[in-house]
Amino acid sequence: MMPFKKWFGSKSQNEEWIERIDSENIPSHVAVIMDGNGRWAQKRGLPRVAGHHSGMKNVKKITMAADAIGVKVLTMYAFSTENWKRPREEVEYLMKLPLEFFPKEIDELIANNVQIRMTGWHEGVPDYTMKAIQDAIDQTKHNTGLILNFALNYGSRREMLQGVKRLTEDVVSGKISLDAVDEAMFSSYLLTHPLPDPDLLIRTSGELRISNFLMWQLAYSELWFTELCWPEFTEKHFYEAIQEYQRRARRYGGL
Ligand code: FPP
Repeated sequence: MMPFKKWFGSKSQNEEWIERIDSENIPSHVAVIMDGNGRWAQKRGLPRVAGHHSGMKNVKKITMAADAIGVKVLTMYAFSTENWKRPREEVEYLMKLPLEFFPKEIDELIANNVQIRMTGWHEGVPDYTMKAIQDAIDQTKHNTGLILNFALNYGSRREMLQGVKRLTEDVVSGKISLDAVDEAMFSSYLLTHPLPDPDLLIRTSGELRISNFLMWQLAYSELWFTELCWPEFTEKHFYEAIQEYQRRARRYGGL
């Protein structure tokens, strides 16, 4: 029996779900496309941003659920490079969420040894947003537990192009030889370096797309989709995804 963590009380409902999970086969890295906030809100006659707010609260819940079973890295797609095209008010609202989330949650995240990280370009993100995130990164940088990684101002094609350009520069300047370029070397030029590739991708809201998210890193990941919108995705659903992951045999192209 694994040492299920202190986040939950001793006899929580979560424990019953956790008992059905094989503690020997926990995905190290789970990536999540938190989709459907807008639709969740609209279905309830609320403004779209109410969905984002509810979605933000869910980040905490799923972080706890992931940490409780020993997931090492949880990458949450919070804002894509394409999301800048949304109405200004919505973008501003999303950019202010870290200013609410981190001050509210940082003490508990620290108490549970969580490390905050960000994958994405800092340039273009408002200074106040970056400050809130950077403060959280700095405050948790000596922690050794779950990595809660926000993909923010992130896009996979741009990431790969940047990687190719930087790698080419290093080959042209003679810093590395062309013969040394292999998959591990290319990975080291990506924004996610040195995180491991995701073992499992979860996408909510019924969309069956990758949407420019970690396209190199997801090459061998198990994909799990649900019709549920992100704000209604609970610990129970997270553990269902983990159980489904455990039923699948990963072959990496072999037999
Ligand atoms: C996609 O749903 C969701 C987003 C673009 C934002 C996700 C961000 C959060 C859940 C909060 C992150 C928290 C922090 C602290 C940064 P959508 O709006 O595209 O949904 P729709 O497809 O129904 O319109």
